[in-house]
Amino acid sequence: MIDRSADPIAPPEDEPFDHHAPDFAARWPEIYRDMREGGCPVVHSPRHGGFHAVAAYEDIRRVLQEPQHFASGRELEFDGVVVGGATVPVTASRLGMMEMDPPQSLVYRRLIAPHFSARTVREYQPRLDTIVDWVLDRVITSGRMDVVADLGAMLPPLVIVDLLGLPMDRWEHYAHALHQGASHQKGSARAIIAVMREMRELVGAWRAADSGPPGVCTALLDAEVDGAPINDDLVAELVFMLLTGGVDTTTAQISNTVVHLDADPQLRQRLIDDPEVIGTVIDELLRLHTPGTGAARTVVAPAEVAGASLVPGDRVFLGIGSGNRDEGVFPDADRVDPNRPNSHQHLSFGYGIHRCVGAYLAKAELVTVTRALLERMPDLAVDRAALEHRPTIPLVNGWTRVPVTFTPGPRRVAGLDDALPVPRSA
Ligand code: HEM
Repeated sequence: MIDRSADPIAPPEDEPFDHHAPDFAARWPEIYRDMREGGCPVVHSPRHGGFHAVAAYEDIRRVLQEPQHFASGRELEFDGVVVGGATVPVTASRLGMMEMDPPQSLVYRRLIAPHFSARTVREYQPRLDTIVDWVLDRVITSGRMDVVADLGAMLPPLVIVDLLGLPMDRWEHYAHALHQGASHQKGSARAIIAVMREMRELVGAWRAADSGPPGVCTALLDAEVDGAPINDDLVAELVFMLLTGGVDTTTAQISNTVVHLDADPQLRQRLIDDPEVIGTVIDELLRLHTPGTGAARTVVAPAEVAGASLVPGDRVFLGIGSGNRDEGVFPDADRVDPNRPNSHQHLSFGYGIHRCVGAYLAKAELVTVTRALLERMPDLAVDRAALEHRPTIPLVNGWTRVPVTFTPGPRRVAGLDDALPVPRSA
């Protein structure tokens, strides 16, 4: 038991850990440092039904690789109380295999993962280049844009809608609903349910026509699990999971990347001089800014984490942003180091059996955008006085407004007057 009176940096009882609080959004690196270095690597919070927050890298990794103790499923019953899910508190609806446990989760993961492998993403690269150019072409002659509205909020939904083979002309509608949801805006639940309903209608129509778009959606429609096709509700849930997983975190990290490079001209120049290091720096920026705030698990068998005894039914929140700045693993952790040997070991994509299926795609998007910005807008300057950050970061950490100016340049993609990039299947 920690004697809090003797420990000036332990969180006071009246200010429990709360990743939904504005104070957390403003001071999370400091709050986590106090936990790690102040002898409180696990703290209990009564908020959101009660949970334990875990701060140290090795503890987070351990929890993520022990599904037999720490489960992701949503409907886990303990003494008549149902708890679970991969977020604290649980979201309105299940997030596909992200909120299932083995063996079930692995069945769907095996079907989906090949469609987001390093090789698949490499093959998709020319198309990704075109979409990035198309998005930048819309603003390149004007000399100004808002990196969030004109780039970050456009690119990831366009890419995932394209890859999934969803109707291209609906990208904006989906993106709007998902962006609202990630910041828990009023009315967001209804907007998200409408998108889920649309996914269900699409899946029904594909099934009825016996023809879905090429790629992962058709693989799910054609798959058999335990000798039967996956039912349409579950296919729709998995498609929605891919759509939502691919949008807001990447949007946030595009904004984090631009704001960081603007504040660090030396690093930006290094990337211009030596584009080979962009990949490592993208990992460093993912580590430092941690666009996905955290993951959650439910204790299903007695376990100990950093001296805290946890019992079945306890909820655990994993402070990914904290693990990413753990000095024991990443010395001089608050600094971006293009030569850091273990940058890729950050936890921003999670770890273990639920590690982000879209990690290769997300990294490719971030590398491609960064390279294109450095090439096409090398003097890009952020209007720092006009920056706006998310006031709270319950799920996603990033900026909401990043106005920039740059020297105008020429367009690259022919046919810009088209309302959308041409769908992949066309
Ligand atoms: C910078 C961007 C991204 C970040 C920071 C991110 C972060 C994460 C994290 C932390 C997890 C693990 C959750 C857990 O263990 O409970 C995860 C899982 C997942 N992500 Fe991402 N993600 C990103 C982009 C994407 C993209 C582009 C896709 C689209 C395919 C995607 C789809 C998924 C899926 C389907 C899972 C569940 C995997 C499973 O349960 O087996 N993510 N992501």
